[in-house]
Amino acid sequence: MPKWLDNAVFYEIYPQSFQDSNADGIGDLPGIIRRLDYIKDLGCNALWINPCFDSPFNDAGYDVADYKKVAPRYGTNEDLILLFSQAHKRGIKVILDLVPGHTSAQHPWFVESMKCEKNEYTHRYIWTDSIWKGIENVSSVLGSLRGISDRDGSCALNFFTSQPALNYGFANPTESWQLPADAPEALATREAMKDVMRFWLALGCDGFRVDMAFSLVKNDPDEKETIALWQDFRKFLDAEYPEAAFLSEWGAPDKALRAGFHMDFLLHVGPSHYPELFRTKTPFFSRKGTGNAHEFVAYYEEARRITGGKGLICIPSGNHDMCRIARHLDTEERKIAFAFLLSMPGAPFIYYGDEVGLRHVENLISVEGGYDRTGARTPMQWDSSPNAGFSSASPEKLYICQDSSPDRPNAERERTNTESLFTEIQRLITIRQKNEPLQSNADIKFLLGHKKGDPLVYLRSGVSGKVLCVINPAAKSFTLQLPGFTVKDTLYSGIVSATLAKESLFIPAESATFLMVD
Ligand code: GLC
Ligand code: CA
Repeated sequence: MPKWLDNAVFYEIYPQSFQDSNADGIGDLPGIIRRLDYIKDLGCNALWINPCFDSPFNDAGYDVADYKKVAPRYGTNEDLILLFSQAHKRGIKVILDLVPGHTSAQHPWFVESMKCEKNEYTHRYIWTDSIWKGIENVSSVLGSLRGISDRDGSCALNFFTSQPALNYGFANPTESWQLPADAPEALATREAMKDVMRFWLALGCDGFRVDMAFSLVKNDPDEKETIALWQDFRKFLDAEYPEAAFLSEWGAPDKALRAGFHMDFLLHVGPSHYPELFRTKTPFFSRKGTGNAHEFVAYYEEARRITGGKGLICIPSGNHDMCRIARHLDTEERKIAFAFLLSMPGAPFIYYGDEVGLRHVENLISVEGGYDRTGARTPMQWDSSPNAGFSSASPEKLYICQDSSPDRPNAERERTNTESLFTEIQRLITIRQKNEPLQSNADIKFLLGHKKGDPLVYLRSGVSGKVLCVINPAAKSFTLQLPGFTVKDTLYSGIVSATLAKESLFIPAESATFLMVD
């Protein structure tokens, strides 16, 4: 595991919405470079940048047309190399988004693959052997594309209809056109993807977030072959780039970490009960106290048990696929949610703008395949100048409309306010960075949180000591008998602090406290 992940705190940047530098209304790489000091000031030491490669943008760049070329709207490869070096100068790592499951239908591989004559790319994608034969009821295939080629056949889709599925083979082939996962053509796709990784790693990138990592081998019900495939990628990384971080969008750490990823996310989809914390009508982090975290805790403990501390389970504040955390939680509630996010094991991920309280912008028309995700992808709000400092284009030229409310938050105001969410997150990151027991790899044991309505009390134990984290979003206090601990120091508390005296832990309403204990 790369050492730098021990204390990594990531910041996710959606490049089209972060900072425009040339007044075309779309964020770009020079814009990101301009804002690196802001990210450093927040305390993050790692970036994940959503796909920034050449694309027709039917799925906001998750439809790649050239894996080795920065999309002109974001700049050039040289700009990306400059971003790596400028970030590194500031102690910030940069991971890119690798989309291995599909390309854009405009990718030259696909254009070749559509041809009647056999060529190197004939099996780069999954095709049936007749136009009249589609692909139904195959796990990880979302339908098929047909009638678009001279070639007689239908092509499997991985996501939208503009995203044909790359061919990594089938776990249980049942038709002659289905190749096994170790067929030379399926292995060639793997090698092509390794080649893409080598290309960017050699230029200074620090690793990859891997899109839909679970989806590669088809008809793979327990994901056995997909796991074996990623283990092979991990071997390649260990041999050639052992410092590169490998992070999956899988949402099932028990599988993903076994597959060799260093990190996997808990997501809004999947079995983790993550949404119940932040994104239901009555989330756990609401002060109403009607939400629950016990199912999340049960899932999390089981995932830790299965993965045996091998690899990191990462909990994001949000991402470009789910609604903004501000949709369901107000600022004070979010401060407590961030105290949780920044005191859990695994590397925390902050979605751009969550630190200043960007709202979910409702009722937007879909942009670039965003649909209901569009409202979580609006341009960053930096200051009180036009377009909130995002761009000097005219407002109707912006990539996505911004929050138009007169009281919309912005980074400049938040940074100068000592009681803002931004300041609280900054404080929390500083405390995490100074205290190893709060970082990625230190152990966790839940002391409270197994029953409906419980607040969360967990003990983080590292090589340098123990920290008791006490998180109570509800508007009511609790008292817990807790023998065996003496408090050495209060590392963090919000407005009110939990106290531990005479083996009794008092947990005030709406509080988050970190106590250094013996
Ligand atoms: C992932 C991405 C999402 C994209 C999809 C298809 O889930 O996060 O934004 O639309 O994969 O690539
Ligand atoms: Ca621009």
